[in-house]
Amino acid sequence: MQVDSSPRAVAAPEESSSTSELSKPKLSDQEKQALHERFAQKFGSMDKERSLKRQRVEQLMTDIDKQKEQIIPHQKFTPLETQVVELKAKYPGCLLLIEVGYKFRFFGEDAKIASRILHIANFIDRNFYVASIPVHRLNHHVQKLVKAGYRVGIVRQTETAALKAVGSNRGQPFQRELQQMITKGTMVDDMVSPQSGGYLMCLVEEKRGGHGSDERVYTGMVAIQPSTGDIIYDTFEDTYMRSELETRLLHIEPSEILVPRILSKPTEKLVKHLSLQKSTSFGEESVRIERMPSDDTFCGDYNAALTFVSEFYTSTPSLSQVVELPDIVIKTLACIIRYLDEFNLTNTLKNTKFFKHFVSASHMLLNGNTLVNLEIYRNNTDFTEKGSLFSVLNHTGTKFGQRLLKKWVGRPLVDLDRLNERINAIEELISTDNPKKNKALSLFTKLPDIEKGLCRIHYGRSTPKELIQVLDALIRISTAFLKAHEPRFSSDLLNRLFDTLPTIHDTVVEFREAINPNFSGDNLIDLFRSEERWPEIPKQKKNIKYVETLLVDHLEELKTTTHMNDLKYVTVAGIEYLIEVPNTRTKKVPNDWIKISGTKAVSRYHNKYIINQLKEREQYRELLALSVEKAYKDFLSEISENYEQFREVVSVLAHLDCLLSLTITASQSDYVKPVFNADQQETEIQVVNGRHPIVERLSSTYVANDIHFSGSQKAMILTGPNMGGKSSYIRQIALISIMGQIGSYVPATSATLSILDAVYTRMGASDNMMRGESTFMVELHETADIMKYATAKSLVILDELGRGTSTHDGQAIAYAVLKHFVQHIKSITLFVTHYPSLGKLVKTFPGHIRNCYMSYIQEGDDTDFANIVFLYKLVDGIALNSYGMNVARLANIPLSVIKAAKQKSDEMQKEMEERQFQNRRIQVLKSIMQPSYDTEQIKHELSML
Ligand SMILES: Nc1ncnc2c1ncn2[C@@H]1O[C@H](COP(=O)(O)OP(=O)(O)OP(=O)(O)O)[C@@H](O)[C@H]1O
Ligand SMILES: [Mg+2]
Repeated sequence: MQVDSSPRAVAAPEESSSTSELSKPKLSDQEKQALHERFAQKFGSMDKERSLKRQRVEQLMTDIDKQKEQIIPHQKFTPLETQVVELKAKYPGCLLLIEVGYKFRFFGEDAKIASRILHIANFIDRNFYVASIPVHRLNHHVQKLVKAGYRVGIVRQTETAALKAVGSNRGQPFQRELQQMITKGTMVDDMVSPQSGGYLMCLVEEKRGGHGSDERVYTGMVAIQPSTGDIIYDTFEDTYMRSELETRLLHIEPSEILVPRILSKPTEKLVKHLSLQKSTSFGEESVRIERMPSDDTFCGDYNAALTFVSEFYTSTPSLSQVVELPDIVIKTLACIIRYLDEFNLTNTLKNTKFFKHFVSASHMLLNGNTLVNLEIYRNNTDFTEKGSLFSVLNHTGTKFGQRLLKKWVGRPLVDLDRLNERINAIEELISTDNPKKNKALSLFTKLPDIEKGLCRIHYGRSTPKELIQVLDALIRISTAFLKAHEPRFSSDLLNRLFDTLPTIHDTVVEFREAINPNFSGDNLIDLFRSEERWPEIPKQKKNIKYVETLLVDHLEELKTTTHMNDLKYVTVAGIEYLIEVPNTRTKKVPNDWIKISGTKAVSRYHNKYIINQLKEREQYRELLALSVEKAYKDFLSEISENYEQFREVVSVLAHLDCLLSLTITASQSDYVKPVFNADQQETEIQVVNGRHPIVERLSSTYVANDIHFSGSQKAMILTGPNMGGKSSYIRQIALISIMGQIGSYVPATSATLSILDAVYTRMGASDNMMRGESTFMVELHETADIMKYATAKSLVILDELGRGTSTHDGQAIAYAVLKHFVQHIKSITLFVTHYPSLGKLVKTFPGHIRNCYMSYIQEGDDTDFANIVFLYKLVDGIALNSYGMNVARLANIPLSVIKAAKQKSDEMQKEMEERQFQNRRIQVLKSIMQPSYDTEQIKHELSML
C-alpha cells in the first residue's frame, strides 16, 4: 500500500527511536526523493485547500458584513434606531454623533469612519454597526473628525430624566435634536486653541467672454472666519491663470471653500488642487470643498439672491448698505448665508459694519507670486512661518494683534498720510517714557484671545469660564488707561487709540457685577448673583429648600412614630436621605419601609414619602437647571448687544499691538526710519547699506549693498556667478520697499523711498498649482500679466526670465521684455540674467539702464575650474561667466562629468560667437548698401561688433 511509505513513517524519528536501527526501512536516495516529492505535493495541496477555504470564509464574512451594513432590519427597529434612521435621512452627508446616556454614539457607516479616524472599536449592535465615545471627550474627537474633512453633526438629548418621567411622553425614547453642525470652515473653536479656526470662503463666477487661454471670468467672493467674526468680500476679473483668485487664496488661506456645483475649468483645477495637496505655499492642510446643492438658484439668479438677502437683513440697519453691494457679491452672500444657517452661525453676518473690502484704495495688494517668491508669510523650504518676512516683523503679544499684523504685512499702505502717521507713531513709541507704553506691553502678554471670546458670546456658545475671562480682560484694559492725567503723546493716532480703551469701562463693570465674583468651575447655578435680574432662579432654589425642610420635619415625625430617637439621614454611594437603623433594632422598622442598602451593623431605608419628596426635588432641580440655562443664554445675548463697541476696543488693541510689534523690530540697532519722497510724480529708491532682513540673520558676514534708482535711471541688469547673491539682492530691494510701506523701519543705514503702487515678481520655477501647464507657459503667462498691470510706480523683479526654453528663444524673449519695460512701462525693473549679451541694451538706453554684477574673486587661471570667492558686493559692469561648473563642483557632480560638460560648453561658446559675428557683419553690410544710410546707426552697429 502506498500508505506504508507515507511521510509519517519516514519523518517520525521520535516514534522510531524506541525500535531498533534494523527495523527502519532502508530507502535508496531515489526513493527518498520520490517520497519527498509526494510529501511536498500532499502538503502543498493541503495548503491550497486551506487557502481556498480561508478565501471562501472571508468572502462569506464580507458578504454578511455588507448585508448588515445596509439599514435593512434583521430585527425590528428599537425606538432609538428609528430615531437614528430619521436623523440620518434629515441630515444626509453628515457624520452624526448621537447622545445616548453618558456616551455619544455613531451608527452605521458613521461608526466605521469614526472607528478608522478615532481608532475606536466598532461592532454590530442589533441592526447597526455602532461605535461610541464618552461625553467628556466630545470636543477632542469632533476636532479630529472635522480636521479629516468631515461635516460633523452633534445630536443631543433635549429632555431630562425627571421631567420626562412626569411628562406625557413617558414611554417614548428621549427627544433628540441636532444642536450643532461643524466643518473645517465653520469651526468656532475655544479661546485657547492654538490656531484660529480657518476661513470659509464662498465663490461665485460669471463668464466674461474669451475662449481657451483668453477666457475671462468675473468672480464674487465672501469669506468669513466664524471664530473671529472677520468678514471679507470682493469682486475681481481674472485671466486664464486665475492669478487674482490665487492671490486671495494665499492671503486668506481658507480652510473650506463653498463653490457652485459647476465651475469654470481653470478654477476647478485650482480648487481640486487645494483639496488634495499637503504642505505648500497654501499651508499645511488640504482645503475642504463644499459644493452647493444641485438645485441652487442664487448663483444664477440675482433676483432670487436679492430677495433672500433682503429678507435676512430686514429689521437690521444694515439692509440699505447690503443692497448697495455689487450684484455678484449679493449672490455670493446669499449662498454663504444659506450655508451658514445650517450651522447656526449667521449672527456675525447681520452687521455689515464688519464687512471689509479685500482691496482698498489705501492699500497695495501683494499678489500671489510676490507673497510666495519673497517668502512673505511662509518660507519656500518647509512652508512654515519660520524665516518669512512676517516672522521678522511679528513681536505681537496677542493673537488678535498677530492676525491684524498678518493683514498689514500682506497689504502695505499706499496712502502717504496714513503711512507717515503710522511710522511717526512708531518713532515716538521707540523713545517715549509715557507709562502707557509699558502698561500696554505688559498687559498684552497676558490677554486671552478676546476677539474669539466675543464671537463665542455672540453665537451664544461661550462657557462661563470664557465669559468671565473676557469680561475680566476687558475690565483690566479699560481700567488701566482710565487716568486722564497721564502725559499725552504727540502722535494723534496713539492718543486716539489709547482714548478708546476706557470707553467701555462702565458697561463691562456692570455685567461683571451681575455675576458671582468668585465663580470658578462649570456649575452655572453658582454663577448668577442678581436676584432681580433672574427671579426664576431663587424661586426654584426656594422650592428645593422647601422640599428639603419637609424631609427634615419628616424625620422628626418618624422618630416619634417609631420610638427611635436616634434615627438619622445618611448619604451612601450618592443616595441621599437614607434612614439608618442599627440591625439590632430592625424589628421596629415599619413594614412599608424599603431597604436600600446595609452593612453587618446597620440597615438603610427609604419610605414612600421620602421617595416622592426626592422625586419632587429632582423635578425642581431640573427646572432650576433649565432656568439657569435660559438665564445664561439671555445674559450672553444681552452682552452681545454691545458687540460692536467691544469689538471696536479689540481692534484698537490689535492696532496698538501691531504698532508695538513694529517698534520692537525698529529698535534693533541697525534699522532705520525710511523717509518717503512726497513727490508723487517721481519714483525713487535710495538706500545706503541695505540688507536682506532674513539672509542677514543666517550669515555672520553679511555684505550690505546700496540701492539707487531715481530719475530716468530705473532699470538694472544684474549678472554674476551662480550663488553670487543676485536673487538675494533683488529680494532685498523688494523687501525693504515693502517693509517701508508697512510702516516698519528697514535694515539699512539710510533709506529714501517712494510709495510704490505694486511689487511684481517673476522668479524661478513656479509653484505647481496649475498642474498640467508647462513651466515655460506659466513663466510667460505670469510675465504677460505683469506687463499688463505694471505702471511707472511699480517695482518689477524678473529673475532669469527666459530660462525655461532654448537659449536663443530665451535670450530673445528676455531682450524684448526688458526693452518693453524700459521703453514703455518705465517701472523700476530689476532684471537678473545669465545672458551677458543683454547688457548691450545699456547702449540703446543710456541713462535708463545700469549694468551691475555681484563681484567675486577668481582664484587660478582656468576660468571654469577656478575657485570662486563670492564677495556679494554689487559693482558696475557685466559678469561674462556664470561659473556654473564651479557650482556643479560644489554640488559634488563627478569630476569626469564636469570635464565633459566644460568641453561641450567651450565648443558651443565658440560656435555661437562665430555665428554672432557673421550675423552682425551681414547686418552692417546691408545697412551700408541702403540708399539712404544712417551714419549714426552704422557707427552703433559697428560698435556692437
Ligand atoms: N550680501 C550677502 N552677504 C552674504 N551672503 C550672501 C549675500 N547675498 C547672498 N548670500 C549668500 O549666497 C547664497 C546664494 O545667493 P543667491 O541665491 O542670491 O545667489 P544667486 O546669484 O541668485 O544664484 P543663482 O544664479 O544660482 O540663482 C545665499 O543663500 C546666501 O547664503
Ligand atoms: Mg538666483
